[in-house]
Amino acid sequence: MREKLQNLKNEALAQIIQATDPEELDRLRVHYLGKSGQLAQFAKELAKLSPEEKSESGQIFNDAKTAISNALASKSEIRSRSEHIPKSEIDSTLPGIRPPTGHLHPVTHAIEEISSIFEKIGFVRVRYPEVDWDWYAFESLNMPKTHPARDDWETFFVDTPEDKEMGRLVLTPHTSNGQVREMERVKTPPIRMINIGKCYRRQSDVSHTPMFHQFDGLVINHGINITHLKGTIDYFVKQFFGPKRQSRLRPSHFRFTEPSFEVDVTCDICNGKGCKLCKEGWLELGGAGMVHPNVLKAGKIDPNTYTGFALGWGVERTYMMKSGLKIDDLRLLYSNDIRFLNQF
Ligand code: DAH
Repeated sequence: MREKLQNLKNEALAQIIQATDPEELDRLRVHYLGKSGQLAQFAKELAKLSPEEKSESGQIFNDAKTAISNALASKSEIRSRSEHIPKSEIDSTLPGIRPPTGHLHPVTHAIEEISSIFEKIGFVRVRYPEVDWDWYAFESLNMPKTHPARDDWETFFVDTPEDKEMGRLVLTPHTSNGQVREMERVKTPPIRMINIGKCYRRQSDVSHTPMFHQFDGLVINHGINITHLKGTIDYFVKQFFGPKRQSRLRPSHFRFTEPSFEVDVTCDICNGKGCKLCKEGWLELGGAGMVHPNVLKAGKIDPNTYTGFALGWGVERTYMMKSGLKIDDLRLLYSNDIRFLNQF
């Protein structure tokens, strides 16, 4: 038995080394390792042996099996690698080997798409500091000192001395910090801004990451009203999600808008009818509303002459609601796992 196994192993290795094409390697694999191959026959014989003989011959059997499998594996690998190496005669008409190419991160793609949709209707893309004063992040937006968002548990405060007028430095918890900054930059309306940037909050679960992106739209001019807001949202929803998706406004509350709304978009799975994933047919996109007069005043714009609307949504959240995209855990976007990113 021992001798027979040794011979089988030697014979198999010799044949594998000499094999020249993949079909032959496949044939040898089946012949030696297949269900009714040579080694399987030996396995049946082994079962009949006494315990001592079994342990002795079993070792040789295992050794032969490993050696044959390894030889087959390395021969196949050498073969597949050498297929790419030009032989002595180079055929310059053969197509080349494409080097692997990367692509932009899905969130960068979403940001580019959102910018270009708004730019088509005259919005100007801007960016404002991601580490900003309390004044721009909260105070100028009509948020009182007691507002829950101004708490250590919600917002990352920077450990630096407080400025008498501007307050503390914070990692911006929303892109609405760009609203009063834009009013200061433009000075006299019209204003049509789309501010896209990074935001930071103390949160981490399947639908939240401590760093995420938002886009804040702001329009200020004579006679701006809710129909302009609704029209802009409808336009964006059709462009970004497709012509079948619809939007609706629901009453809500934000300190910097009055009236305020929550914006919903119809679920892509059930088209607004209601299903397990969305419950009532709608998915929540984010906030919007008419700019509060106190915010206009903070930006030195007369609320008796001008009115405006604003909207502020999460980039990742909005992107997740695109048709056919279902990501169970938002944190995957920032895990840098190439297997995940390759799918986009
Ligand atoms: N800043 C708000 C947030 O992060 C979202 C928001 C709501 C922005 C209404 C706006 C707005 O510009 O008008 O939750």
